[in-house]
Amino acid sequence: MSDDAPQWRDGTRCVRAGLPEPVPGDPFLPGPVFAAPYHLDPWEGPAAAANGYGRPDNPTRRLLESAIGELEGGDCRVFASGQAAITGLLLAVLRPGDTVLLPADGYFPVRAFATAALERIGVRVGFVPTVGPYPSLEGVRLLMLETPANPGLDVVDIAALAQRTRAAGTLLVVDNTTATPLGQRPLDLGADLVVASGTKALTGHSDLLLGYVAARSAELLETLTAWRTTTGAVPGAFDAWLAHRSLATLDLRLARQSANAAAVAELLAGRADVTGLRWPGRPEDPAYPVASTQMRRMPGVVSFDLGDAARVSRFVDAARLVAAATSFGGLHTTADRRAQWGDDTTPGFVRLSCGVEDTADLVADIAAALDAAGAAGPLS
Ligand SMILES: Cc1ncc(COP(=O)(O)O)c(C=O)c1O
Repeated sequence: MSDDAPQWRDGTRCVRAGLPEPVPGDPFLPGPVFAAPYHLDPWEGPAAAANGYGRPDNPTRRLLESAIGELEGGDCRVFASGQAAITGLLLAVLRPGDTVLLPADGYFPVRAFATAALERIGVRVGFVPTVGPYPSLEGVRLLMLETPANPGLDVVDIAALAQRTRAAGTLLVVDNTTATPLGQRPLDLGADLVVASGTKALTGHSDLLLGYVAARSAELLETLTAWRTTTGAVPGAFDAWLAHRSLATLDLRLARQSANAAAVAELLAGRADVTGLRWPGRPEDPAYPVASTQMRRMPGVVSFDLGDAARVSRFVDAARLVAAATSFGGLHTTADRRAQWGDDTTPGFVRLSCGVEDTADLVADIAAALDAAGAAGPLS
């Protein structure tokens, strides 16, 4: 179904992505294929069929890969989680003596992995804030960006950095988790590789873990495929099928999440008891100039500060439509006080992920919960 896809708009591309050609009597999306070994041709062995063993081969996974690949504009390999995709990519590509630059303000387990595992094998690791300044890239093997960065929501100009990485012979990797491929297409902007957690808005139902890497270079894809097959970090067939099914509504979910984030950001901007508001879609936000030209739509995630941990707890406790939960991009609005996980944020910093609830209901609920939460500091 992919030949005529480029002229279609987002909603159409999402509902059709990765579906096989229609066959009378067959379902739209074939059900999950559960198999470890498959029948082999007794004479020809694995060469005779597309599927020999479940770690390298699964038709449900392949359909999901073609769907995500269509949306990212490259070829895709899915992994068991976003972390499996990121760590797999770094380990597959980097060698002892290489230098890698990672986001200083991105998803913190990536930094933890780099210092625990990459430095141990002799890779030199540097951290750069998403907004820069970026050092000379001479001798840098790989630069990874996360834009918008989680959880601070800073944004960087991918195309501008792609010019620099190309000139320096550096691989450019972009973590596209927060934006999703409908929010931006890093491969079109000059990135060599996209990496992402599909656990978040991409699949959006808070019911599975998924990661992926997308690229246009056959050589890089071959390296990654070989790495995934030998290390085994593949998602199961049922998760792959659930993810593909969920992908069909990405356009609709993002539209509501983004509209909700805009309304919530407006509410928070008007409150004197909320500080540090960040949402790249607000013209007043420092990320807006780059985000509004680079991104095709704004994420449903907003961040802000409520002063201290107790006030965050009172806020979430008082809200009926905001669940305390980590992760983001799901159907339900969630709030996460990032410092409780060890993230390098202030005690009252909240990452709020807007769900698909009705906008007026959500805004009213958040306003009432903030009122109920009172001021920062112990309640008298
Ligand atoms: C930006 C970003 N990248 C990667 C990951 C890791 O994804 P997963 O939890 O699916 O392993 C996350 C998880 O929150 C994330 O926010």
